Amino acid sequence: MTGVLSFTDVAVRFASTETSTGAPPVPPAVDSVSFTINRGEIFGIVGESGSGKSTLANSVMGLLPRSAQVTGSIRVNDREVIGLDDDQLRSMRGDEVSMIFQDASASLDPTWSVGDQIAETIRAHRTISRRGARAKAISLMTEVGIADAASRYSDAPHRLSGGMRQRIMIAAALANNPQLLIADEPTTALDVTIQAQVLALIGELRKNHGTTVLLITHDLGVVAQVCDRVGVMYGGKLLEVAAAEDLFANPQHAYTRALLAASPSGAPRGSRLPVIPAAWNIEDLQRLRQEGTE
Ligand SMILES: Nc1ncnc2c1ncn2[C@@H]1O[C@H](COP(=O)(O)OP(=O)(O)OP(=O)(O)O)[C@@H](O)[C@H]1O
Ligand SMILES: [Mg+2]
Repeated sequence: MTGVLSFTDVAVRFASTETSTGAPPVPPAVDSVSFTINRGEIFGIVGESGSGKSTLANSVMGLLPRSAQVTGSIRVNDREVIGLDDDQLRSMRGDEVSMIFQDASASLDPTWSVGDQIAETIRAHRTISRRGARAKAISLMTEVGIADAASRYSDAPHRLSGGMRQRIMIAAALANNPQLLIADEPTTALDVTIQAQVLALIGELRKNHGTTVLLITHDLGVVAQVCDRVGVMYGGKLLEVAAAEDLFANPQHAYTRALLAASPSGAPRGSRLPVIPAAWNIEDLQRLRQEGTE
């Protein structure tokens, strides 16, 4: 298997807004992260709030604010993406790599029909007639499980339920057959039944199109349900990478064990990763890292 996405010693620092000279340096939001995702793999990243998951995901697509300093190497299909200019990033987005976010409502234009938004995404990347793009959009809407897609095509986003809007976002993300889909908490805003359906859909994509997926979540149940491998982040660092079943059966790292112990049944659906314990300092973290690798 070949790597579709690989991180080597990646660090992201946000410039401090504090100007006084005595201010302590801001620790990196992502620190020394290295791992590779293989073709067709669904790779989960878990970690408590603020552990750097979104920062890591956004670094791939050049979606970090300009104040962010990214170092190391991030390769998509063997091409370095750190330092690409806006045009180069734009051509990579949608085609090679697509991204979906937690809240579809924020990503969809409220004034525009959902079908046209998908069709425009298609037209932005290839030469195709309006009619052809419309037909393709309807078939994508059907594929993501929107019943009677043709009659839903002209609906504005607010006429759809949250789960349907999320499906529209997934349809738009798939419009150009991306090899890599990065999904940042794609189901967190949805109720449990719809969550399960959207996750099943992500599993289908991999099966039918061989899509490689980086799935960010703080829900251990999501990891158990769809991921092949999972990385655990804490304080910007990647503490452990394991096959999903091994992570639950045999967690290597003390922090991972603490996480699993804190969720009584191992991987209850809909559970969130707790913050444990209050605030660990860097010495604790280093000690745990050492314990975890022993
Ligand atoms: N634009 C920004 N400017 C400054 N600091 C930022 C910025 N974005 C994120 N950070 C900081 O980077 C760290 C990691 O944040 P990030 O959003 O990546 O966490 P996360 O794991 O995605 O959390 P959550 O589960 O809440 O989404 C946090 O300390 C956060 O305050
Ligand atoms: Mg996040």
